[in-house]
Amino acid sequence: MAEDKSEFDILTQLVQGTLGTEWPAGQPTSTPIYTAATYTYESMDQMDKVFSGELPGYVYTRHGNPTVTVLEEAMRVLESGSVARAYGSGMAALHAALFACELSPGSVVLASQDLYGATTNLLLNIFGVFGIKTVFADFSDLDAVRSQAEAMKPRVLIAETISNPLLKVCDIDACAEIAHKTGARLIIDNTFASPYLCQPLQHGADIVVHSATKFLGGHADAMGGIAISRDAFDTGALTGVMKLVGGVLSPWEAHQILRGMKTLGVRMDRHCENAKGLAAHLQNDVRIGRVYFPGGAETAKSIAGRVLRPGHFGALVSVELKDNSRETAFRFMDNLRLVARSTSLGDVFTSALHPATASHRDLSPARRRELGITEGLIRISVGIENVNDIIADIDQALSTSVHADVSVPGAVATGSTG
Ligand SMILES: Cc1ncc(COP(=O)(O)O)c(C=O)c1O
Repeated sequence: MAEDKSEFDILTQLVQGTLGTEWPAGQPTSTPIYTAATYTYESMDQMDKVFSGELPGYVYTRHGNPTVTVLEEAMRVLESGSVARAYGSGMAALHAALFACELSPGSVVLASQDLYGATTNLLLNIFGVFGIKTVFADFSDLDAVRSQAEAMKPRVLIAETISNPLLKVCDIDACAEIAHKTGARLIIDNTFASPYLCQPLQHGADIVVHSATKFLGGHADAMGGIAISRDAFDTGALTGVMKLVGGVLSPWEAHQILRGMKTLGVRMDRHCENAKGLAAHLQNDVRIGRVYFPGGAETAKSIAGRVLRPGHFGALVSVELKDNSRETAFRFMDNLRLVARSTSLGDVFTSALHPATASHRDLSPARRRELGITEGLIRISVGIENVNDIIADIDQALSTSVHADVSVPGAVATGSTG
């Protein structure tokens, strides 16, 4: 490309003169957003060598992008993996992770029953179509998981570090041992914990997945997903899905997520502290039937104590309203003034979600009942605001929507479970 564009017609100048050829020598102190979809080289020989991997570089953003690479490398290091690949959403990352486990018709996936609803559907309705069978188990019952694994010889075990929406903490070390004894690989969705609270590969997991849309980004302005494997062998599959299925992460989103990650540690400290305060407050509220928070029950506490950062139990608190009806849950949600009615989690602001109509909407009502996802269940993602304001808003919404008979004997919170 010619340096001096003045010799060209205005039509050519408009196209060629806007490219820019001189770049500053200084290192930028924030990650540049490389929006280029394509790259050109001095010669075809050089381009060919970059394509083949003989020379480093980028050829086409579906095959790799410098901004996205910064995010992948940051996550690879944070999770102590050998390879990390980013995708356009957490679901795309889960799909890639499952694909990397070389599933084929007849393969079995042993899945936690307590998965995000869309993950359950991905297994049943996408992988299921290709003859891959998913069997669900209660991963808090390790004997049941072990006997299912021994009987079914699954290729993959999959669970969430802190489950959606009942917040059960997975004993990752024990699940990894069961998986490896029976020749399976363990995928852990670490979205609810983030790498600040837990690094599943350090506990024996094989592949860890994040929806970067949640705590990593943290500001409800970017969607993305990342899969990180302990095994460099997975580079081919994780990269192959990226290139050929093409659900790549946009460099714009990668930049937003990278910016969010800079404050992940301080945000998580505050999120978790506020969640602890809210859970403790709600425990004693007679309008609440049950509080789910990993910092409560003793068993969960000991698993959480081993798996999560000390003193941190996550930023989610789920509550079941005393009358447990959809009508009351909707009224409570409608009466929130500060807390956002949301379809996500992990943002700096506090938000509330109704799992039966959002995260687990696609499960049948009967299945939701079996799992304990009742009509009166509300999942609260506790933000970093002043906790007293969060509590005050939830209190006022309870007062204006829940009519609990406080004189009923024994009408006290039943306490938390993991
Ligand atoms: C635990 C968990 N994993 C994965 C996902 C999917 O992430 P995304 O919405 O970025 O595809 C979600 C979404 O809510 C989730 O809660």
